[in-house]
Amino acid sequence: MQPLKLGIVGAGFIAKFQVQALAQIRSVEVTGIVSRTRAHAEALAHMARSCHVGDPAVYDSIAAMAPHIDAIALYAPNYMRVEMVEEIVEAVRRGAAIRGIICEKPLARNVAEARRLVELAESANLRTAYFENQLFMKPLTAQLAQLAPQQETMGPPILVRSAEEHGGPHEPWFWDPVRQGGGALCDMGCHSIAVGRHALTPQGKPPDFLVPVSVTAEVALLKWGLPVWRQRLLERFGVDYDKTPAEDFATGLITYRNPESGQLVKAQFTNSWMFEKQGLRLLVEGMGPGYAFEINTLASSTQIFIGDAAAEAVADAEKAIEKATASRGLLTVHHNEADLYGYPDENADAAAAFLAGRDAFLPWSYGLEITQLVMAAYLAAEERRTVDLTDPAVQQRLETYTPLIQQGRGAEVLSR
Ligand SMILES: NC(=O)c1ccc[n+]([C@@H]2O[C@H](COP(=O)([O-])OP(=O)(O)OC[C@H]3O[C@@H](n4cnc5c(N)ncnc54)[C@H](O)[C@@H]3O)[C@@H](O)[C@H]2O)c1
Repeated sequence: MQPLKLGIVGAGFIAKFQVQALAQIRSVEVTGIVSRTRAHAEALAHMARSCHVGDPAVYDSIAAMAPHIDAIALYAPNYMRVEMVEEIVEAVRRGAAIRGIICEKPLARNVAEARRLVELAESANLRTAYFENQLFMKPLTAQLAQLAPQQETMGPPILVRSAEEHGGPHEPWFWDPVRQGGGALCDMGCHSIAVGRHALTPQGKPPDFLVPVSVTAEVALLKWGLPVWRQRLLERFGVDYDKTPAEDFATGLITYRNPESGQLVKAQFTNSWMFEKQGLRLLVEGMGPGYAFEINTLASSTQIFIGDAAAEAVADAEKAIEKATASRGLLTVHHNEADLYGYPDENADAAAAFLAGRDAFLPWSYGLEITQLVMAAYLAAEERRTVDLTDPAVQQRLETYTPLIQQGRGAEVLSR
């Protein structure tokens, strides 16, 4: 079968990671790249050639790239989503034979934007893939397979705890709550909420099987609001957390109902940009009746030690692990981080789906549901109450709700 000809939009952090992932599968060929900075697009094209994932041309716009691709992947910042999808839909109307669109997490900054994206894709009859890599993590799929007999005899998991934490993002726009959509909750809560729900979902059931019932949450600015760290943010990224702060810590609890048995199950989530360890850590821990599992991505089979005397020779700590914060001492190394996080498998799934003319395992309608849960968590934190997701008035409110933090009014929430 011919590979899927993929056009990539954005040439930053995740685009590079995804090119590494594409080198591990056969069904995708990168044929085009568009990015705001041409030099970055050229560098990504060079990387794609070196990894043998294609010989992409660099284009000046989505419209120029559209006639040369089968599918398009959006790896640009969150605030560009709607504009970019409008441009793609316009290109399809003008005759481009694009079959599907991939969108990185989060699908959107709020429910209104997410719904607009879903409607736009439907209007152009485009198949969709929402890239939530954590559902494709091999440690997760392996434990699900291993514990399948226990699920069968004892019942599905009843409590899951999931966390994604690191020391803070790499680009200024992530720290700006208006452009990004919030702080750690918008950026990473979407991951932890999705993977928590998935780990609770009885095997064989679809990812939207469990019905969300209620959400409680708290958000806080614990580290990056302190004067010395606030100043560092200002100097490094030009972001002023005195004026427009976002949360660097979020935690919450979501209750789901099994629509067949009526059983209630719970997922705790925690996300932070104030994690003082070697680098990014993903934690997923689950309990079923009589069984349990735990995934901790900082517990690699490979560790290295670099003493003070040898520290000057360290070139790039982030080659060892994403969001590395240290370049000496005892360090975690992952030999294939893209695979650990599930990137090759989410690409293989999307390519197979688009080539067969269907949506990926996680379509944008699923991304919309995750956006609703993230927004419900902001609402719960803002109003300091449990949000009842079965209440039609709450569901209606979420359609137009924009968290105060996302509006640039974070001080009203975070300093009380
Ligand atoms: N799945 C994951 O774990 C994961 C990890 C990191 C980022 N992401 C997501 O991927 C997306 C991109 O994040 P990133 O870390 O790569 O950001 P980044 O800032 O490193 O890269 C963004 C890229 O988009 C380009 N860009 C900006 N505006 C553009 C425009 N108008 N047109 C074309 N290109 C434009 C930038 O020049 C840059 O190359 C975000 O939505 C983020 O949430 C997901």
